[in-house]
Amino acid sequence: MLKNDFPKNFFWGTATASYQIEGADLEDGKGPSIWTEFTHKPGNINNGENGDVACDHYHRFEDDIEMMKELGVNAYRFSLSWPRIFPEGRGKVNQKGVDFYNKLIDELLAKNITPFITLYHWDLPLKLQEDINGWESRDIVNYFADYAAFAFEKFGDRVKYWITLNEPFCASHTSYFFGEHAPGLKDPKKSFQVAHHLLLAHGESVSCFRKIVKDGKVGLTNVSTWVEKADDSVTDEAVALANQFTNDWFYLPPAKGKYPDEFWKLIESLNLAPNVKPGDMEIISNPIDFWGVNYYTRQRIAKKPDSFFGYDVADPVLETTEMGWEIYPEGLTKFLKMAYQRYNQKPLYITENGMADADKLIEGKIHDNRRIDYIEKHIKATRDAINKGIDVRGYFLWSFMDNFEWAKGYSKRFGLIYVDYENDQRRIPKDSFFYFRDFLRRKV
Ligand code: GCO
Repeated sequence: MLKNDFPKNFFWGTATASYQIEGADLEDGKGPSIWTEFTHKPGNINNGENGDVACDHYHRFEDDIEMMKELGVNAYRFSLSWPRIFPEGRGKVNQKGVDFYNKLIDELLAKNITPFITLYHWDLPLKLQEDINGWESRDIVNYFADYAAFAFEKFGDRVKYWITLNEPFCASHTSYFFGEHAPGLKDPKKSFQVAHHLLLAHGESVSCFRKIVKDGKVGLTNVSTWVEKADDSVTDEAVALANQFTNDWFYLPPAKGKYPDEFWKLIESLNLAPNVKPGDMEIISNPIDFWGVNYYTRQRIAKKPDSFFGYDVADPVLETTEMGWEIYPEGLTKFLKMAYQRYNQKPLYITENGMADADKLIEGKIHDNRRIDYIEKHIKATRDAINKGIDVRGYFLWSFMDNFEWAKGYSKRFGLIYVDYENDQRRIPKDSFFYFRDFLRRKV
């Protein structure tokens, strides 16, 4: 398989997120985020770890970008830390934070790497959580839009690809329903309201974008999972319901201005439906330019009488990654096909794909053959979708380097580059780095 088998202007990149790599968490005027607080509460994170230092990318970004150049990617997806720019979420600007992102962007452009910015990858300014309960409050929508508009003004002259939110599913349900992410609540009612506010914030920021970055593209990134039945005792309706919860809930409102019917009815009957005001769905469905697809695995749905709607995800049967996720590249092709048809035939970018493995540093090398295999199969799966006429325009590997994997801390390594946290944060390219570099270089 060759890079030449892909469309000419295809974007090949890697992806990261601010809290997972930057470190310097309270440095140079940066305010704390909900993750600063959450990670410092005992019991929330594996091994009591946090993102105070992370990969220290804040101080090492120049060397990191040099390695991206060596890798040969033509794009890089990263997120802005809202509290690095607005330490309290609104009001006073932290100029040093703005300077940091300016330097980062300029450095990327100098190396011919196209920046893709995510505005929100979960590090909400803590002050907004304290003052207004963060995403629970409708007021957040305007604060987010103001922050977005500021970022578009400051960086939109040079950055033309923008993603409003990363995985609103996780920012709502993983955080408020399952309680695994900050702020760590288990309150389904709040979770659906938070999800609605996230979608509204997305829609409002798209309006700002159109006024400010006239020649740019804006999209939304969703966690995207191929859903199927585990066995024949599961009805098609149950699979459809699971798909509505996992995928449609965050794809359909922006695409069609409506929540999925059956799942809406279900949560309404349980008194969990969000409060939706007249005009909200029009804001949410402000047309976007592309979808960001974060694909890792599939979900097999099985009967589980004591779970939320009578079904849950079955145990894996295929080989899994260190996260316990089944390796299922065919699901990527299937998902891209389904998403393209179902969500308005917008261009698709795979904004995340990759795997955590039990990488071992042996004599200065990391032989991560399973990761190479994973990447190769998913790149092929992407090409299969393109060959079927699906408009896929980019592929971003998660992740450029090992980093802070949220509740799992540093125990899960997703990078093409091994980070030796104990030895001055040494960056050591894994075999997968060289594999991807060679794939990007090879012409015949
Ligand atoms: C997510 C996030 C990333 C993760 C990655 C691996 O999907 O949870 O976008 O921040 O680190 O997906 O789990």
